[in-house]
This record gives sequence, structure tokens and C-alpha cells, in this order.
Amino acid sequence: MELFDVVDVIRVKRDGHALTKPQIDWVIDAYTRGAVKDEQMAALAMAIFLRGMNREEISQWTSAMIASGERMDFASLARPTADKHSTGGVGDKITLPLAPLVAVFDVAVPQLSGRGLGHTGGTLDKLESIPGWRASMSNEEIYSQLGEGCGAVICAAGAGLAPADKKLYALRDITSTVDCIPLIASSIMSKKIAEGTGSLVLDVKVGSGAFMKDIDQARELARTMVDLGADADVKTFAYLTDMSTPLGLTVGNALEVRESVEVLAGGGPADVVELTCTLARKMLEMSGKTDVDVEAALKDGRAMDVWREMIEAQGGEVDAELPIGTESHVVLAREDGVLQTLDALSVGVASWRLGAGRAVKEDPVQAGAGIEIHAKPGDPVKKGQPLLTLHTDDEWRIPRALESLEGGIVIGDSAPDAACVVLDEIG
Ligand code: URA
Repeated sequence: MELFDVVDVIRVKRDGHALTKPQIDWVIDAYTRGAVKDEQMAALAMAIFLRGMNREEISQWTSAMIASGERMDFASLARPTADKHSTGGVGDKITLPLAPLVAVFDVAVPQLSGRGLGHTGGTLDKLESIPGWRASMSNEEIYSQLGEGCGAVICAAGAGLAPADKKLYALRDITSTVDCIPLIASSIMSKKIAEGTGSLVLDVKVGSGAFMKDIDQARELARTMVDLGADADVKTFAYLTDMSTPLGLTVGNALEVRESVEVLAGGGPADVVELTCTLARKMLEMSGKTDVDVEAALKDGRAMDVWREMIEAQGGEVDAELPIGTESHVVLAREDGVLQTLDALSVGVASWRLGAGRAVKEDPVQAGAGIEIHAKPGDPVKKGQPLLTLHTDDEWRIPRALESLEGGIVIGDSAPDAACVVLDEIG
């Protein structure tokens, strides 16, 4: 005998009323058990999309999703734990240098990640371009690497964490109910809270290559997630960062690993270094470490040492050559001037079409596919100068990638406004 009739629960939200705590707990549990069917949950998700949820409902929805699975607990570790989550962008490889950099200062980073879907890349896909590296780890291996090992783990989130979200996210993906702030916020935060981190820094991307195209929407998403963290006693802070143009000078799996290693070697593009250091400083500050020089740890090799240990602990051949697509194509500037726009979405879709991303979960990705960027907005360019190099294993993919770049590269007479990486912060 079920506690509620799902048709009544859907009607409450359809008519614009708030769901009660027992209704929310029941519907999430019943959906996870299969007693509420996909078509009923799809109707409820659409009602939530159209009618919204108030703060109490979002908080309860998140708690119910956490309660659908296991919750990790790192309180017994000798080190504090801190994590970051990015809402996803183009060329966003920050997790790779960030996790080892934070671990240098004796703060453990349990970074349980996902794979890419659509035009944004996934951290696990990137790391899998390192020969031998494996994404799956047991809970015991995670605890040991965080406690006695190098202190940083990047691995696949196990099936036990927030299983209700796994089911619901797949359903939202095929029912046009992904881009809904209460559902995005509860989805992200249920996984991060279940993961057991002590503090959490959110990187909420804003711009063409992000979920949130405008800054007001991004602020609302960030505020909602920071509040959910506070409700669950996880110290949470959010940065709003620019995703109108790709981060750094590479997009694609192995290419982004290569650039991350450059950052860990004390070099790398300025925007990637700035964002890595900003997020690292905040994660450390929230873990009680205020007097730290994160830039020095990149320059003197300490972060690189942790990276090597972290990759080797998961079977990765840290010195192996990284793959690169067998076919390439160079995109040239069509005129003299200043590069005004290099649109993040266009570049992200082009890289995806080259084979770096997947359309459905089961698709394979090409480790060596992607795009090298030779000029960024604000750079002067000459007609015939290389702007991008496209890489893929399949020549037939190149024309389709070029199509998505049409309109995404704009050369003009004057320089665009100087770009800031961090646009705002919410704590
Ligand atoms: N990422 C998630 O994990 N969930 C969402 O709903 C959107 C992005």
C-alpha cells in the first residue's frame, strides 16, 4: 500500500501549489523503487519546470535524493576535505590541475566526476586519454588515497550515490526538463552532499558555452546551491565565471590533459592558471588554510608531484605520449583586424563533432580529437594567420565541425572589452 497516489502529487504541482515534505520523500523513494513510472515522473518534472519550487521544497527534494542512496563520510580522515563542482563549459579542464594543487596543502580532494554529454567535456573522458588510467575505484581505495595516499582522487561516482538523481537526470534529458534551476540545483547538490565533502566551491559558468546564458539566471542558480549546501552543513561558496569563449587554448580530451600538465609545470594559459589558483585559494581558505601560496606550488613542482602520484595510483602511465587525431585541418583568419569573438558554444560543438564528445551515454569518445586555439578574443590577427587547428581520427568529421564554427569567429576593427574570468561571487 503506497502512502500517496502519484496522480494527486502531480496535480498539486500542476496547479501551482507547494509539495509537502512527506509527498516529496515519498515520490522520490517510489520513483527510485519503480513504483512511480517514468511517464508519471516526467509529468511531475514538467510541472516543476513550469511552476517552480520554493526553497523548502528544493531543500527537501535534495534531501530525498541524497537519502535514495549511500552517503560517504570523510570525517575520520586526518585531513579536511574540499571539492569543487563546475556546471560545465568548453575547455574547462580546471579539475585536473586543481585537485593535486589543493592536496599539496594537506586538504584532501574527493572529486567524484562524470562523463561529458553534449558539447561540454567530461573530466573522466579527459583522464582516460592517459594510457592505463582507470576511472573506477572502490570506496576503500578512495578512503586510502585520500587518507594515507597523495590526498587527491578523481574518479567515477559509484552507482550508490544519489541513484534517484541518476534516474531522474536521464529522464530530464529526454523530456526537455534539464534547464530548470530547482532541478539542476538539487541534482548537483544531492551528489556533492552525498559525496561527503566538508566544503564545496561551485564554478557556475555563464555565457554561450554554459547552461546559464545570462548572469541573473546564473546568480539564482548559484544562490540556490549555496543555500542547499548551508541547509546540509556543507560550507559552500560560488563563483560565476565567464564561458562566452573557451577556457585556455585547448578543447578535447588528450589536448586538455596536455594543457593541464603545462599548468602543473608552472606554465599554461593565463586564464586557466588564474581560475585554478582562485578556486584553490577558496577551497583552502574554507578548510582553514589561509596563509598559502598556491602559485608557488605550481612553479616549484609540488603540485606536479601530487599529480604524478594521483595518476599512477589509478594505473595511468604518467609519462606516456598522449594521443592526437590522425587528421588535422587549420582554420585561417579571413581578414586583418582584432579577434572579437571566439564563441564557446561554436567551438564546443565543433570539438564534439570532431569526436571529442558523445551524443548518447553509450557513445565512445576519441581521445585525440579536439581543437587547438591559436588566438583569443582581443588578439590582433592577420589575414591567413592560423586561428584554430582541428584534430580528429575521421576526415569526414571536419566539414561538419567547420559548419558549427560559421558565425562563431568574428574579426573586427576594435578590441572587445577586456575579459574577466571571474564575474561575480556568492557566499
Ligand atoms: N549537472 C547535473 O549533475 N545535474 C543537472 O541537472 C545539470 C547539470
